[in-house]
Amino acid sequence: MSKLSKQDPEIYKILNSELKRQQENLELIASENFTDGAILEAQGSVFTNKYAEGYPYKYRKSGDLDYNLYGRYYGGCEYIDESEKLAIERAKEVFGAEHANVQPHSGSQANMAAYYALLEPGDLVFGLDLSHGGHLTHGHPLSFSGKYFRIFHYTVEQETEVINYNRLKKWAKEEKPKMIIAGASAYPRKLDFAKFREIADEVGAFLMVDMAHIAGLIAAGLHENPIPYSDVVTSTTHKTLRGPRGGFILTRDKYRRDIDRLVFPGLQGGPLEHVILAKAVAFKLALTPEFKEYQANVVKNAKALSEALKTEGFRLVSGGTDTHLMLVDLRPKQVTGKKLERSLDKAGITVNKNTIPFDPEKPFITSGIRIGTPAMTTRGMGTDEMKKIASFIRRVAENIENEEEIIRVKSEVRELTSAFPLYEDIKYE
Ligand SMILES: Cc1ncc(COP(=O)(O)O)c(C=O)c1O
Repeated sequence: MSKLSKQDPEIYKILNSELKRQQENLELIASENFTDGAILEAQGSVFTNKYAEGYPYKYRKSGDLDYNLYGRYYGGCEYIDESEKLAIERAKEVFGAEHANVQPHSGSQANMAAYYALLEPGDLVFGLDLSHGGHLTHGHPLSFSGKYFRIFHYTVEQETEVINYNRLKKWAKEEKPKMIIAGASAYPRKLDFAKFREIADEVGAFLMVDMAHIAGLIAAGLHENPIPYSDVVTSTTHKTLRGPRGGFILTRDKYRRDIDRLVFPGLQGGPLEHVILAKAVAFKLALTPEFKEYQANVVKNAKALSEALKTEGFRLVSGGTDTHLMLVDLRPKQVTGKKLERSLDKAGITVNKNTIPFDPEKPFITSGIRIGTPAMTTRGMGTDEMKKIASFIRRVAENIENEEEIIRVKSEVRELTSAFPLYEDIKYE
């Protein structure tokens, strides 16, 4: 019997139910993935016990960074230092960056550090509108970003549903932002970092790239790398990158000290060294040929799923995808995102409702859902399974009040997921 089951049977039961939910359901949330068992092992390790405020290096007066100098405010950090140093060096290698800070607890904290390192409160920032695919930290009024900075939300073009860089340039020339953010949570097309850089240069703005969603694709060379074009790159480790839940920042050497100071002591105290241990493993895995093959399959599956959904009568925002995600316009099926999300849940299919550009519905209702293929590709599913998934979604959308049909879909979902086992070696019972 496990320690947890003895100490806290109530929590043990919840943990077991969540494992079962992940195993039995079809996970289509674009920002989620199933991380490797090695990463779970690292994250659930004794590294959680250690305080390590500071860094595994110090800056010399000359501005040089030196791993031989003790940069921590606590003793006993020799192994923590080895692990964090490996995480930093591997992150730099994966993305070809000059400097990496692997301490941000999350993507939002990485973004916060970037804002505060480069800007003064009240400076004008350009971010993609949330209802056009942006993220809360790109200027939502309830986020630190919208509260402490002035925000201009650029949008996609109504006809094409993609960013029109000429329009963006025009807006930038009129408004003169101090920083432009390139990056999104629900944008199915590739971003043109060279164009973003050109616009930023023309108006003297910093370019921050938030690659949280596409970091895995970039690591595998399937999306342009933002490093040559940007001042600061922020990311999460847990989406396409398939690592532990957390954030990191890549910068030019020029900004490394400002970013480091902002993360600690500016925003955080003791880093989550057990997560950093797991981040190091994730960066190592991202350098393998298997990882590149996996990412190629993620994109292939996304294309197959978007084509299959079109065949099933849905409309795809921008006509499809060239990344890991797609935005589905549900109006041809006369169902809202809120309703379909709930009914799909009943059928064991997990998605999130999502606004589509120029959505006539409120953000809590929405006309769309966002779908991603990273998690199901990790399970080993391929293009044939994507066709089945598209048909499940159509059947639920067309039978939203028909409990019997939803139960039939659920049993087929179970059959499909059981053919692609997940975490077979984890046994909580
Ligand atoms: C583009 C983008 N940036 C930042 C974040 C924030 O990451 P976290 O949830 O770890 O704070 C997300 C998360 O969804 C995201 O999609």
